[in-house]
Amino acid sequence: MKFVVLCVLLATYLAVPCYSEPFFMELPGYAKTVMGGFGNLSTSWYEPRRPFYSFRYFHYAAKPTYETRFLPPVPSNYPYPDDEIYNSIDLPPGCAQGDRNGLEDCLILSVYTPKFPGNASDPSTTFDDLLPVMVWIHGGSFIFGQSILYEPNTFMAHDVVMVVIQYRLGPLGFLSLGTDEIPGNAGMADQIEALRWVQKFIKYFGGDKDKVTIVGESAGAASVGFLLLAPQSREESKVYNTFIHTHKKDKIRKLANNLFLTSPFGLDLFRYAIAESGSMLADWAVDRNSTKHGYVIAELAGCPLEPYEELLHCLRSIDVITLQNAQSAFSANDVLNGGLGFGGQSPVIQTAGKIKYLTEEPRHLIESGQYKTDAHLLFGANEGEGIMALDMTLDLYIRPNGLENDEVFWKYDSVRTILAALGIRDDTGALGDALTTKYLGYAVDSCQMGNFTVMIPGLIDIAGTLFLKAGGWQTVLLHTKFNPHAYWYSFDFLGKVSLISADEILPRGVMHADEIMYLFTMPIPHNETEIELSRKMLEIWTTFATYGEPTPEGVAMREGIPKWPPYTHEKKEFMAINKYWSVKNDYTLYYTVTVDKAGPRSVSRQSAEACANAYWTSKKKHERRRAA
Ligand SMILES: *[C@@H]1O[C@H](CO)[C@@H](O)[C@H](O)[C@H]1NC(C)=O
Ligand SMILES: *[C@@H]1O[C@H](CO)[C@@H](O)[C@H](O)[C@H]1NC(C)=O
Ligand SMILES: *[C@@H]1O[C@H](CO)[C@@H](O)[C@H](O)[C@H]1NC(C)=O
Ligand SMILES: *[C@@H]1O[C@H](CO)[C@@H](O)[C@H](O)[C@H]1NC(C)=O
Ligand SMILES: *[C@@H]1O[C@H](CO)[C@@H](O)[C@H](O)[C@H]1NC(C)=O
Repeated sequence: MKFVVLCVLLATYLAVPCYSEPFFMELPGYAKTVMGGFGNLSTSWYEPRRPFYSFRYFHYAAKPTYETRFLPPVPSNYPYPDDEIYNSIDLPPGCAQGDRNGLEDCLILSVYTPKFPGNASDPSTTFDDLLPVMVWIHGGSFIFGQSILYEPNTFMAHDVVMVVIQYRLGPLGFLSLGTDEIPGNAGMADQIEALRWVQKFIKYFGGDKDKVTIVGESAGAASVGFLLLAPQSREESKVYNTFIHTHKKDKIRKLANNLFLTSPFGLDLFRYAIAESGSMLADWAVDRNSTKHGYVIAELAGCPLEPYEELLHCLRSIDVITLQNAQSAFSANDVLNGGLGFGGQSPVIQTAGKIKYLTEEPRHLIESGQYKTDAHLLFGANEGEGIMALDMTLDLYIRPNGLENDEVFWKYDSVRTILAALGIRDDTGALGDALTTKYLGYAVDSCQMGNFTVMIPGLIDIAGTLFLKAGGWQTVLLHTKFNPHAYWYSFDFLGKVSLISADEILPRGVMHADEIMYLFTMPIPHNETEIELSRKMLEIWTTFATYGEPTPEGVAMREGIPKWPPYTHEKKEFMAINKYWSVKNDYTLYYTVTVDKAGPRSVSRQSAEACANAYWTSKKKHERRRAA
């Protein structure tokens, strides 16, 4: 995966200071005066081209300490001194990631709002007519990403408050040893804490805490799914009690009391959820062997594995970059051996820790209704999701193992390898065979199995379906057992450029993350068609955040947006988002979209049968040889 455009973006933002006119406000619990930005660069991109307020730099929790490095965040970093200006105009750095950024003091969120209700201590300030709130959770495989990549000048043409959060990434966010000191899911705990900050503070920015929509892409979309499952999302009072209990002797207990008592209990952290191209049901989203992976990473980092006290001391005090490099080394090695490489950097089913965020298999929680069933969902995926997944496989597994031109590998073992990488057990081989028939039947029937070029469309579809499409669609389908408000989209618009580039031998397509270009402010010039697409999407996203439906009854929508029906088992409807939008039926037909688009192949029935017979016979022989 190559984040070419994202890097260019980052450089652009860092080189051009995004300063707007300074704007001062009061925020209880923070310094008396908070400085943010207003106008100039903070002007909405689309009509009414109005200025908005931007506050990019709020700590929602304290910097993790030696003791709390792998634990849920401590919301004790405020109140701030009364006599200082709290500078929220600067661009916040991202959480520790890669081999250069080792920042732990990164639990920061940004707030953007078109409306300022007035200073908190001013008695004439009334907090009515509050706007819906959207909380953006960035993607990046749980190892990359940061808030300043997502500037919402686009959204600010609409009446919503936008919050962009950061959370711990990589081993700092997700390392787990299955112990109370390193239980995993610290990054998920951060997201919850950021949502609590929103509950407490968002009204001072004109936002309605009872109308929060969480929105995420890729790993952020999986995070949205995990937040649906987290008991904390709907049992705030219970979590509060646990927190107070566990901090009984601590002086922050008093502080926490003051802070929490002002917000009502029993309220949910959010109401609606949007997930773009990712799901907690996808295999990569959960590390199911996290303790083992954790120990391997600790060893690679040079920590003694025993006794436990020494291991713990080492991991808590080790230089962050060293730890991240150990995780990367683990990951690279895992991928080379046919794994996914997500170990030690993903959410876990928690067996330890005082507070648990995910306690059972996601699929089980969803099926049994043990999650936030009253949430309305708007989920979707991009047409060519599999291009990125296949590209990653090529880069990290195929080429390093010298398999690119290995006809035998492509012919007999490529599908099996993809399944194994995803952690899908297929002991009988029946699943691999069924996938081969469904996705690569055209290659089987034309005697071209083993020719990678020919197999590319089928492999893209297998990877896209297993990696990204099916998990989201399944979530929507399962959700309707409890709630009729579940909507699905397929993003099918092929723009001039993609955010993530892929190898030239792969066809161009609607890549993973491409829809972000039409939602956020990106230095990518759009033509008229693309601007209109962007406006439609922003209208849908913000309408959903306002009403919990993309096209509610009695609300006038832009021309060209058809009425968007929720998913039902009878009609299986969803929205195909393209230059022209249309309602289609049964998204599973999209699982083979790349193969279908490559067009029909003319092979006579007799030769197809002959080719298929020859392939399956030779495959059995190959398997017997391998077993022997
Ligand atoms: C809010 O209060 C602060 C501190 O008293 C002051 O500097 C600022 O000008 C006020 N802002 C507005 C918009 O009234
Ligand atoms: C920003 O806008 C203000 C008016 O709102 C104007 O006076 C100022 O010159 C602008 N600054 C820049 C750098 O454009
Ligand atoms: C975890 O790793 C161990 C050791 O390699 C292996 O035996 C076990 O099957 C793995 N468990 C899962 C769930 O993958
Ligand atoms: C593989 O298929 C491509 C496209 O049909 C063709 O150009 C190429 O010659 C084939 N390669 C082999 C080794 O048959
Ligand atoms: C804008 O670019 C897209 C490709 O990104 C193209 O399909 C479309 O026709 C272009 N529209 C105009 C008005 O040039």
